[in-house]
Amino acid sequence: MRFCTLPYLILEVGYRSIDTAQSYFNEEQVGSAIRKSGVAREDIFLTSKVWVEHYGYDSCRASVEESLRKLQTDYIDLMLLHQPFSDCYGAYRALEDLYQEGKLRAIGIFNFYPDRMVDIASFARIRPMVNQVETHPHNQQIEAKKWMDKYVVQIEAWAPFGEGRGGLFQDETLTAIGAKYGKTAAQVMLRWNIQRGVIVLPKSTHRERMIENWNVFDFSLSQEDMAAIAALDTATSAFFSHQDPNMVEWFVKMVEERKHNQDSAKEEKNW
Ligand SMILES: NC(=O)c1ccc[n+]([C@@H]2O[C@H](COP(=O)([O-])OP(=O)(O)OC[C@H]3O[C@@H](n4cnc5c(N)ncnc54)[C@H](OP(=O)(O)O)[C@@H]3O)[C@@H](O)[C@H]2O)c1
Repeated sequence: MRFCTLPYLILEVGYRSIDTAQSYFNEEQVGSAIRKSGVAREDIFLTSKVWVEHYGYDSCRASVEESLRKLQTDYIDLMLLHQPFSDCYGAYRALEDLYQEGKLRAIGIFNFYPDRMVDIASFARIRPMVNQVETHPHNQQIEAKKWMDKYVVQIEAWAPFGEGRGGLFQDETLTAIGAKYGKTAAQVMLRWNIQRGVIVLPKSTHRERMIENWNVFDFSLSQEDMAAIAALDTATSAFFSHQDPNMVEWFVKMVEERKHNQDSAKEEKNW
C-alpha cells in the first residue's frame, strides 16, 4: 500500500519546510512521513510550536522532549512559542537552554505583536529569531514588520492567503498583476511577501496547488506592482485580534477544555 499523508505529499512534491505544532496533534505523522520519504533529515527545515498548556520552564522542556520523540529526530530547526499568553517567559527560558544544548537550532515566537515582541526581545538572554504572524495583502503587518526589522526578528507569515477570506484569490488587483506574468493571484501573494522579506507558509491539500504555490521563483513583481498590493492593506486581522480580551478568554477556555479532554482520556486508559 502506498504511504500518503499530507506531510508525505508535501515532501514528495519537493517542499523541504514543514510547519507543525504540538497543538496540531500531527507531530507523529510528520515524523513518520519524514522517515518514510527517504529525504535526508538535514535537507528538511522542521518547525514546531510549544502549546500554552506546556508553558513554564519544566513543562516546556518536557514537551520539547516529547515533540522530538514524536518527530523521530534529535533536533528541531525552529521551535516557537505558540501564543503570547500564560507563562511564556518561563517557557522561553527553556527554549533558550534547549537552543544552547543544540536540540533546537533556532527559537522564536508566534503572534507576538509589537509590544510583546519588543519586551521579550529586550529581556530574553537569546533574542527570538523568528516571529510568525498573520501576514497577507489585507493584513500586511507594516508597523509590526518595522519593529521586527529593528530588533532583527525575522517575520514569517501564517495564512499568507488569509485562507482566501475577503475574496483574496479573486481580488482584481492581484489577478490583473498575475495576468501580466502568467501567474495566479495566489502566486502573486506569495511573490509579494517574499520580495518584501517575509517567509511564507502556504498550505494546500491539493498536489496541483502545492506545485502552483512552489512556482514563484521565475518572475519578479515591479515596484509599481508592489505599491498596488501595498494599497490593499486594511491593517486588520481576517481572523481575530490577540489583543482583544474576549479572544484571550476564548483561548483560555480552549486550553482548559483540551487539558480536560486529555485528562479524561488518560483516566480512561488507566481503567
Ligand atoms: N490559520 C491559522 O490560524 C494558522 C495559525 C498558525 C499557523 N498557521 C500556519 O500557516 C499555514 C498556512 O495557513 P492557513 O492554512 O491558515 O492559510 P493559507 O495558507 O492562507 O490558506 C490556505 C487555504 O488556501 C487554499 N489554497 C492554497 N493554495 C491555493 C491556490 N493556489 N489557489 C487557491 N486556493 C489555494 C487552501 O485550499 P486547499 O487546501 O483546498 O488547496 C486553503 O483553504 C498553516 O499550514 C500553518 O502551518 C496557520
